Amino acid sequence: RPASVYGLPTDIGAAHRGASMGPEALRVARLVEAIAKRGVDIRDEGNLGGPRNPLSKPVDGYRHLDEVVAWNRAAMSMSARILGEGRMPIMLGGDHCLAMGSITAVADHCRAIGKKLRVLWLDAHADFNTRDITPSGNLHGMPVACLCGLGPKELVGLGKHAPALRPDQIRQIGIRSVDAGEKRLVREYEIDIYDMRYIDEIGMRRVMEEVLDGVDADTHLHVSFDVDMLDPGIAPGTGTRVPGGVNYREAQLMMEMIADTGAMGSLDLVEVNPALDKRNATAKLAVDLVESLFGKSTLMRD
Ligand code: ARG
Ligand code: MN
Ligand code: MN
Ligand code: MN
Repeated sequence: RPASVYGLPTDIGAAHRGASMGPEALRVARLVEAIAKRGVDIRDEGNLGGPRNPLSKPVDGYRHLDEVVAWNRAAMSMSARILGEGRMPIMLGGDHCLAMGSITAVADHCRAIGKKLRVLWLDAHADFNTRDITPSGNLHGMPVACLCGLGPKELVGLGKHAPALRPDQIRQIGIRSVDAGEKRLVREYEIDIYDMRYIDEIGMRRVMEEVLDGVDADTHLHVSFDVDMLDPGIAPGTGTRVPGGVNYREAQLMMEMIADTGAMGSLDLVEVNPALDKRNATAKLAVDLVESLFGKSTLMRD
């Protein structure tokens, strides 16, 4: 399956500057070459532009809402164009608010062609805040809520159909930081959360079996990978680090089991922040994991 990567160099939804350098950090870590080496016909569409980060205070509970809308419209049209070409969109963030655009495009696409959609949200955070409960006003803490219909109309109504997602299409893995009001809301919306305690207790293999249960040839898997899912010891280059994350071997197993389904149809790589990193370690690790996501395995011939 051919693929196209594109970058969104912005930190518009985050409190820390520097996720705007994520696309270049991933390219410097040879992301495109690594995917090409897996035998994938891959194209780099370059970066899209958008409004600069005004670094302003939240207004009515949202920081930079207009700018976030503009960046997400750009993400949505690019992902839609790539899907229309029969290729797999790989969005390089940027912060995680951009997944509203990329996933809305995927949801519209799946509706149009009658495919089932499942979203794997790999993250330390549930990203299910709303303006009334957010501790920060940062929109990268709200994309899942917006995709489920909870949020400003400009974001909830980005695509052809609102809300873009039903909660039962989402699986969240690696979660270990959920804000007080957010906890009530994820419970009310019955979001399927595989938190770190559950991973510790039953192991990553069984977690992934459960997460991927029911995925078949008729399913489009969207992987939204926030690198803060990973333990900060191995992935320090990200703005909202939370201790006790997914370790290297667990992460490799996740990627391999996703690859085995053959169902991945789109991917976000977000929250890589080289300004906070050590020698681009986090982008390099992300590329290593993406190789596994595209089927690299130890005993397989190159
Ligand atoms: N829950 C916190 C907030 O709403 C942090 C969100 C972090 N999100 C992320 N995509 N890194 O501000
Ligand atoms: Mn996130
Ligand atoms: Mn996160
Ligand atoms: Mn590698």
